[in-house]
Amino acid sequence: MRLPTLRFLTCGSVDDGKSTLIGRLLCESSLILDDQLASLERDSRKFGTTGADIDFALLVDGLEAEREQGITIDVAYRYFSTPNRAFIVADCPGHEQYTRNMATGASNCDLAILLVDARKGLLVQTHRHANIVSLLGVRHVVLAVNKMDLVDYDQRVFARIVAEFQAASATLKFKTVTPIPLSARRGDNVSSPSANMAWHKGADLLSFLETADVEDAKAERAFRFPVQWVNRPDLDFRGMAGTLASGRIARGDEIVVAASGKKTRVARIVTMDGDLDHAEAPESVTLVFADEIDASRGDLLCDPLNRPEVADQFAAHLIWMSEEQLYPGRSYLLKCGGNVAPASVTEIKHRLDVETQAHNDAKTLHLNEIGLCNLALSRPIAFDAYADNRVTGAFILIDRATNGVAAAGVIDFALRRASNVHRQPLTLDKAKRSILKHQKPVILWFTGLSGAGKSTIANVVEARLLQRRAHTILLDGDNVRQGLNKDLGFTEVDRVENIRRIGEVAKLMLEAGLVALCPLISPFAAERRMVRGLVESGEFIEIFVDTPLEICIARDPKGLYKKALAGQIKNFTGVDKAYERPEAPDITIGADCPDPERAADRIIAYLDARGYFAVD
Ligand code: ADX
Repeated sequence: MRLPTLRFLTCGSVDDGKSTLIGRLLCESSLILDDQLASLERDSRKFGTTGADIDFALLVDGLEAEREQGITIDVAYRYFSTPNRAFIVADCPGHEQYTRNMATGASNCDLAILLVDARKGLLVQTHRHANIVSLLGVRHVVLAVNKMDLVDYDQRVFARIVAEFQAASATLKFKTVTPIPLSARRGDNVSSPSANMAWHKGADLLSFLETADVEDAKAERAFRFPVQWVNRPDLDFRGMAGTLASGRIARGDEIVVAASGKKTRVARIVTMDGDLDHAEAPESVTLVFADEIDASRGDLLCDPLNRPEVADQFAAHLIWMSEEQLYPGRSYLLKCGGNVAPASVTEIKHRLDVETQAHNDAKTLHLNEIGLCNLALSRPIAFDAYADNRVTGAFILIDRATNGVAAAGVIDFALRRASNVHRQPLTLDKAKRSILKHQKPVILWFTGLSGAGKSTIANVVEARLLQRRAHTILLDGDNVRQGLNKDLGFTEVDRVENIRRIGEVAKLMLEAGLVALCPLISPFAAERRMVRGLVESGEFIEIFVDTPLEICIARDPKGLYKKALAGQIKNFTGVDKAYERPEAPDITIGADCPDPERAADRIIAYLDARGYFAVD
């Protein structure tokens, strides 16, 4: 019987010889046509790094740019087969900053080839890759110790690397680790046993790949069908198109929409080639329901007797992929299948040391770091633990400002906490308090550099409001930092938390019916947007106190700029930390408001024009 297609990925550091290895595999499984071979010989002379030999890497490093720089920069999928088996290879680049591509490749592979340069041994990058592939559910690893020709095919070098890897990966979740000494360049142990390493008793790489047993039990697991889109060409047809993530489905089976709990039966299983009686993972089909129940893109259709989790909080491992560090508390977009929801990291349980597997305390994650985190979503979604399902248990986080991928995540388990806490209805709500106090509660958010005049202006505005018998509270950044936020400093991570907490407090004050004045540097656009999003439209007024840095430095009311410029205070906004100017503030206080009184006039006029105190 022919074995199922083997999906594997290759990873290693730059120059470990991945492309050469894959090139040789493709070549020696004789998939290369004669004319390709001729052009390869020509290219080898032009671009090659192998002297008179054929440079197999040129076969896979297809892009001109890569060829010229001698690096590979994206995941490239290759297909090849031998009489015994078909293969799909994800060729992942070795550069540190491309972990993202590697994670993409790993999440749908059954086996990983970790390449190590025999001369260099294990590198941090090797450990990182081993951790990532383990985390992403790859259970079979080939430790390919390459360039054995350059260490005189010395068995001791190989044995040392293997022993070191086995020790380091003992706690990773690999079922098999198969070490193979080879030379991709010279062809030793790639597709036939090497006479140069008779001491190696195991198989050569291709023979091993042809027979590797990586049983894929996808179809045996519970039925999961993420709806990719609803196909509704006309009023007579409505089908849910998607790919079975796991399990099987037969016509007549009962299914449930996970989030809503609505049930129906499958009336038809439609494909391009006609209807089917049943389908199994990973087939792509369109399911037609027996009843008109609601389901849309992002919904997860499941077996009613084996349902996924539905929760708005879970613990997950994140692989951080952005140049910009993780800010706990910041709102990212979480994308899980077709489901997208705002989400934030509420806690970093630990950061993983990829070399020792130690769990370290951390306040943030930087590029390529891995951490176990708790996440909270703005609404419940349906998911499985990644250990149970590699499709419905995986997600990415998207940076809302750049739309770039910030992290890849694998879900460990749902957190129950939130679902046990319910919102209590309040007898006296914001609307009633508003009437009692003859005012529309509002947050006046003053942002700008230190020394811009935020607190001074806020104080003048508050005094004016008091004259009108308005009910106010002033939450000054400096003051709140002496109590509620005294555990926070001025790192970017702490500032995000500072704003998040003051935002929540301001929201409570709003519910008490007050005008909350909040003078805070609040340097990040993302957090100002986040606070705006906490309340209703018209309840958050962003006031940009746009005083140029030179003036703030000249004023220096607390002598802090002097210290910061002398390097005595670190992370000072405007000096060695950036301030993100608001793009569309509701009110700007600039040079046309030369003193705090004029600034207050403008703010009060703004409030009056919009009827904040006209309530009676
Ligand atoms: S924020 O950036 O987190 O919004 P916040 O407004 O609470 O800052 O606090 C800023 C005040 O802390 C400044 O007015 C200044 O008095 C003081 N401060 C001390 N160190 C710093 C620093 N490194 N950067 C900015 N302000 C600082």
